[in-house]
Amino acid sequence: MYRVASIGGDGIGPEIIAEGKKVVDAAGERYRFDIEWHDFGIGADRYLKTGELVTEEELRELGRFRAIYFGAIGDERVAPGILEKGILLRIRFHFDQFINLRPIRMLEGTATPLAKKGPKDIDFVVVRENTEDFYVGIGSRFRGSQKASLSIERELYHAEFNLDIESDADELAYQIGVISREGASRVIEYAFELARARRKKLTSVDKANVLSDIYGLWRDVFSEQAKRYPDITTEFAFVDAITMWFVKNPEWFDVVVTPNMFGDIITDLGAMIQGGLGLAPGGNINPKGTSMFEPIHGSAPKYRGLGIANPMATIWAGSLLLDHLGEHEAAAGVLHALETAISDGIVTRDMGGSASTSDVGDYVSQAIRGS
Ligand code: IPM
Ligand code: MN
Repeated sequence: MYRVASIGGDGIGPEIIAEGKKVVDAAGERYRFDIEWHDFGIGADRYLKTGELVTEEELRELGRFRAIYFGAIGDERVAPGILEKGILLRIRFHFDQFINLRPIRMLEGTATPLAKKGPKDIDFVVVRENTEDFYVGIGSRFRGSQKASLSIERELYHAEFNLDIESDADELAYQIGVISREGASRVIEYAFELARARRKKLTSVDKANVLSDIYGLWRDVFSEQAKRYPDITTEFAFVDAITMWFVKNPEWFDVVVTPNMFGDIITDLGAMIQGGLGLAPGGNINPKGTSMFEPIHGSAPKYRGLGIANPMATIWAGSLLLDHLGEHEAAAGVLHALETAISDGIVTRDMGGSASTSDVGDYVSQAIRGS
């Protein structure tokens, strides 16, 4: 028996989470375990009514679960950033979910836009650092009768901003990225261990050729750790170049470890090459705490309630959740059943089919029960 928290959230979130739970429950029947779901009404609707994002009380409550199953947040009635930072990032940071695990794997039966590439070429995992970098929220904007002064003197660069800002026409903004030795170490170590359990190759992503302080530290930590893993083949790639290699030679990659913001960007690209955003799952993992599993796509408000949203990324996230709980056979069973549905053409319109959201959940559940 497992107790799992669930947050449907906004837009299509509640519909896809309903299908995900259906499939995880079917896996429970087949592999003999029970899930007790605890639903949390967190999201835009409540925020608009009460002003609450995630309450302290809810954080305490969520902390009693090993896993949270998360749909999506984002709503056109709320300014961008409020729900994202106030709910999703709040939970990731609060529970110190420092690993964002994003498999980029082309399932049997899916189509990739990459010519001549197939499931044997597209099978790697991005390990995205999930608590630092440009996501730490240190920044400011100055405008309209404020004093701002920032002076930077470096080898190649001299800049002085001494502004007595009188109107909105004079404006200054900055945002700072932070990487700590500890923050880099723990996620890089996780990536090395994962590579050891897979094909023993690890690629580190950075932009140390330009952002040499922040990613210089990242690189140093990676190089030091590499000495402890002589069995793993390692390489560095700059983030601009890796977008090119993901498209040209995805088969080169096994595990890719990346700072937070580059990880955000390259996993949307990864989602497209593996068959579309409708398929891409992610796990926000704290190996010793509360982890959270979600599709990497957003809440797609315009498709809300139409029954056409693709639940596959969420179902796959359910498989990651089961892996996290130690139900490895069930996790593999869910993924296999997903491949069966795809091969049998039970796919939603974004994948060229006509199945509804619940058709997919029903079919995958049946495939699990019959396996
Ligand atoms: C993601 C999303 C989030 C992120 C947003 C919604 C805060 O884009 O999970 O990739 O930037 O991490
Ligand atoms: Mn993203």
